Parts: sequence; structure tokens; C-alpha cells
Amino acid sequence: MTPILDVRNLKQHFVINRNLTIPAVDDVTFSVERGEVFGIVGETGSGKSTIARSVLGIYPITSGEIYFKGNEISGKNVSKDIRKDAACNMQIIFQDSAAALNPSMRVEKIIAEPMEIQKVYQNKDEMEARISEVLKQVGLSELHRKKYPSELSGGMRQRVAIARSIAINPDLIIADEPIASLDVSIQAQIVTLFQHLQKEHNFSFIFIAHDLSMVKFLSDRILVMLKGKAVELGRTEELFANPIHPYTKALLSSAPVPDPDYEKSRVRDEYDTSKFTGRGVFTEVSPGHYVLVEE
Ligand SMILES: Nc1ncnc2c1ncn2[C@@H]1O[C@H](COP(=O)(O)OP(=O)(O)O)[C@@H](O)[C@H]1O
Ligand SMILES: [Mg+2]
Repeated sequence: MTPILDVRNLKQHFVINRNLTIPAVDDVTFSVERGEVFGIVGETGSGKSTIARSVLGIYPITSGEIYFKGNEISGKNVSKDIRKDAACNMQIIFQDSAAALNPSMRVEKIIAEPMEIQKVYQNKDEMEARISEVLKQVGLSELHRKKYPSELSGGMRQRVAIARSIAINPDLIIADEPIASLDVSIQAQIVTLFQHLQKEHNFSFIFIAHDLSMVKFLSDRILVMLKGKAVELGRTEELFANPIHPYTKALLSSAPVPDPDYEKSRVRDEYDTSKFTGRGVFTEVSPGHYVLVEE
């Protein structure tokens, strides 16, 4: 089957001035299947958000190709229909929903907005019913309808952002570090909610995080990014059982283990990222398991 998203040799190089270009994303290739949960992990600045923004068409890409449901959505010759379909069927959830949600809108308006823009409902009653439905699905109630974002906790605001993103039944949801600014106690609740919604609605889901702790519970496959490069890609079980790139190993060994004695005694893998050149070939070492084999 055609993957929902196909990213080929994506480069996003930001030209700062004549002497400085930042290769934020450099030759990254991956695809996401229908109904798949795809994790992207890597330290801050590794290019994760730039991948998300490039896929969403927030800025033109330097080179490469991006296909959504088999149609190219990058480049200059994308038809209006394809652009509209992509805008409708891809939704993003940001880390800081306090900043992403319009502070002057009530919750009901925030959730209704994408439905209004995409004109998915004929009348107000249908839309009202849909708002109630999604509020319930994200664990909020009618009491939250008339609230403003500032009247809600961080976790509740993130639930509103999630309600907004699922309201128009998108094919693909990209969540860019959606739990990073939440209290630890709330993080697991939001991850569980994502897991539940994804199973129920079967949308494709890209979950971006800077470490593996939550990604491993959700993801079918994981892409590891370092300094704009894809360093490893594979099924979650395979990556955990058989990590190959030293950076992946370091990420795995820094994930907390719920056993305090083991935590104290275990040896952590360290990886000095300043040694990373990024030069090499992204090679399939076993079926579906790719590693950047450095020169
Ligand atoms: N619009 C931009 N202009 C210039 N540089 C940018 C821009 N967006 C991101 N960068 C740079 O690209 C690199 C990757 O950033 P980003 O994709 O935000 O990483 P991550 O989300 O993994 O933390 C960083 O060095 C960042 O400073
Ligand atoms: Mg980011």
C-alpha cells in the first residue's frame, strides 16, 4: 500500500548569510505507513521540528521530495486540490499549546476553527455535536467549552489542542514534543490518551521527542536524528534489542529504568556528539533496519 507519508532525501538548509548555512535537515529519507505510529527522537537542534515544518509546507524545502498519500506536496507544481487535501488531512500538535492556542478564543471556538476553515459541517448543530464528541474523547467535558486557554492547566490545554487536531478526522497527526513542557505526572496521561485515540481512529501518527522514554511505548518504528542526519531507523523492538549507532546506544542507556538498584549500578553508554561528522551512508543492515555507517 502507498505510505501515508513518504519523505525522500529531504534537505532543509537555512542560509543565514554568505558564510553561514545551517544544514538543519540533511538528506533524510523515511516513510510512514497508514495507521502507523512513527517516533522521531534526537537531541535539541537535531532537526526534528524542521522535518515537521517541512512536511507541513511551512517553508519551501531546499531539495528532496515529500509525498502525501502518493501525491507530491513539495516543489512548485502542486495542484490546489492536493494542497487542500494535505492541509485538511495533516494536523500538528505543538509542545507549547499555551502559545499555540489563540488566547482570545474560547475552547469551543478553538476546536471549531479547523472545521470551519475546511467547511466539513453543513450546519451549526452538527458542528456543536462534533465539538461535544471530541471534548469527551480527549477527557474534557461541557464545562470546558466556554473556557479560555488561560483558565486551563497545561495538561488540559494540550487536550484542547488534541481535540482540535482530531476534530476533522485527519489521516496524519504530527505531535512535536507534545509532552515536553508538562509535569511528569501529566505526561503519562497525555501519552495514554494519544495511544487510545490512535487505536480508536487509526490515524497515522508522528510522535517527536528528545528522548526515548515515552516514544518506546507508542511507536511502531523509530527514527533517530543527530545534527540534521538520520543515524538509525528501525522497528522499536529491533532498535531496543539491537541498536547499532553509538548515539542510539547512548539514547537507550539514558532512558530511565524503573529499578533503583539497577539504576545505580548500571554502566551508561556515553557518546561524544562533537565527534560526529555526519558523513556516511544510510545503510540497510537487516530488513527495515537502517544505520548511518560512517566513513
Ligand atoms: N527558520 C530557521 N532559520 C535558521 N535556522 C533554523 C531555523 N529553524 C531551525 N533552525 C536551526 O536548525 C537546527 C535544527 O532545529 P530544529 O529542527 O528546531 O531542531 P529540534 O526540533 O530537533 O530541536 C538548529 O540548529 C536550529 O537553530
Ligand atoms: Mg523541536
